[in-house]
This record gives sequence, C-alpha cells and structure tokens, in this order.
Amino acid sequence: MSEKDFYIETIENLPALYNTNQNMRDQFAAVFMEFLQLQHLYQSAIEVVKTHLGIIDSEFSVKFQRNPIHNIESRLKSPESIIGKLQKKGLPLTPESAQKNLLDMAGIRVTCCYISDIYEIVNLLSRRDDYVILKQKDYIKNPKPSGYRSYHMIINVPVYLSAQKKYAPVEVQIRTMAMDFWASLEHQLRYKQSAAITPEISEELRECAERIAETDLQMQRLFMEISDLD
Ligand code: GTP
Ligand code: MG
Repeated sequence: MSEKDFYIETIENLPALYNTNQNMRDQFAAVFMEFLQLQHLYQSAIEVVKTHLGIIDSEFSVKFQRNPIHNIESRLKSPESIIGKLQKKGLPLTPESAQKNLLDMAGIRVTCCYISDIYEIVNLLSRRDDYVILKQKDYIKNPKPSGYRSYHMIINVPVYLSAQKKYAPVEVQIRTMAMDFWASLEHQLRYKQSAAITPEISEELRECAERIAETDLQMQRLFMEISDLD
C-alpha cells in the first residue's frame, strides 16, 4: 500500500469524517498529502543548511584548530502553531498560504563562541550562490527594545527532490552563547508568566542584556588579544 493510500484509508476511517461525502474526504486527503510533502521539503532544507554549517565548522577546526560553532538546533514549526499563526493573521488555512506567508516554518539556531564568528558565518552563508537571502536583520547592531540580540537571516534553500528542484525558506538565527543565555531565560520568563512581566521587570531584563553584551565584547577582545599572540 502506498503512503498516500495509507493516509486516504486512515482518513476514510476517521469517525469525524463518517458523515461527510466522498468529495470532502478526497479534498481532506489531498490537503493532508500536500502538507506532508511540505513538511518533508522544509525538513530537507534544514538538513541542507545544517550539513553546510557542519562543513564550515569542521573546516575551521582543520585549518585553524578551533570551532566557531558551539551548537546547532533546529525545529519545524508544529502544525498547531502553523494553524495558530495563520488564524492570528487572518490568513487562509491552506498549505499554499502557509508556504507563502510563514517564513519561519523551518528554523535553525546557531550558537557561536564569539561575535566575530557570527559575522563570519553570515558572510559564508551569504556567499553561497545557490542560496537566496530573502531577509536579514542585524539585532546585534540594532538590538530589539526588549534587549534581544541575534543575527537573523531568511534563506531560500534549494532542495533537489527526485523529480525537481524546490526552494524552501529557512530562518537562521545566529547568536553567541551569551546572547542565547539571555534569550532563552527571557523567553521562559516572558512566555510562561507573561502576566507577571511589569515594565520594571522588562527594564531589568533589558539591563541584563546590556551587561551580557558588554561581557561578550570583553570576551571578544580577550580572544583577539590571545589570537594575536599565536
Ligand atoms: P515573528 O512573527 O515572531 O516570527 O516575528 P518576525 O517575523 O518579525 O521576526 P523577528 O525577527 O522579530 O523575530 C523572530 C524570532 O526571533 C522569534 O520567533 C524569537 O525566536 C526571536 N525573538 C525576537 N525577539 C525576541 C525577544 O525579545 N526575546 C526572545 N527571547 N526572542 C526573540
Ligand atoms: Mg518567528
């Protein structure tokens, strides 16, 4: 049985669809299949960029005996949050609409050691001639009012499928370990107990971000001083 037939049979047997007509069940199955293919495409685009980043990192360790990348995380947006975001924006709930309007369905977070590593990686990603940079925002030079810092890129990544080449946008967030420390805790605090975040607390969180940014600069300076001695 093909994967498609498997899903169609499963859908046909869903109690919620017992009283619907065949046409509706076919439509439902078609959308479901389209969505699965979209997920596969976006997951593949993540793999392309992760492999590329891994090659850059290992090349650095061969050439310069150090790793600019500390960690790489990735995620595909869940169907629940895709639907939630489309609903919030008042957009149609279809795979085409998600593809057109949500540029962060595929996400990669790269944590680097030093600020200079971030720009090195941005340059290397920008130089690849098969990537199309759709958007980029430097929240390091221009931090968000919250204090948030990171470099964001949305890259349209080619994926070579069996029959054709397709592009999928991948959101890449590049930050230092220090920026990641702040963003992770701030996110936890803000989204878990958002009601408790007073303007005073927001201001304190921004101050923490500033202090962490100073430390990042200091570590960068130490790194450059020590590298010069090599
Ligand atoms: P979204 O609709 O949320 O995707 O916003 P956007 O498309 O305008 O992108 P933006 O560059 O503003 O932020 C996208 C992502 O950056 C978010 O999903 C978070 O992961 C991260 N981010 C942005 N601002 C903050 C912040 O103040 N705190 C934390 N912790 N993360 C942030
Ligand atoms: Mg987002």
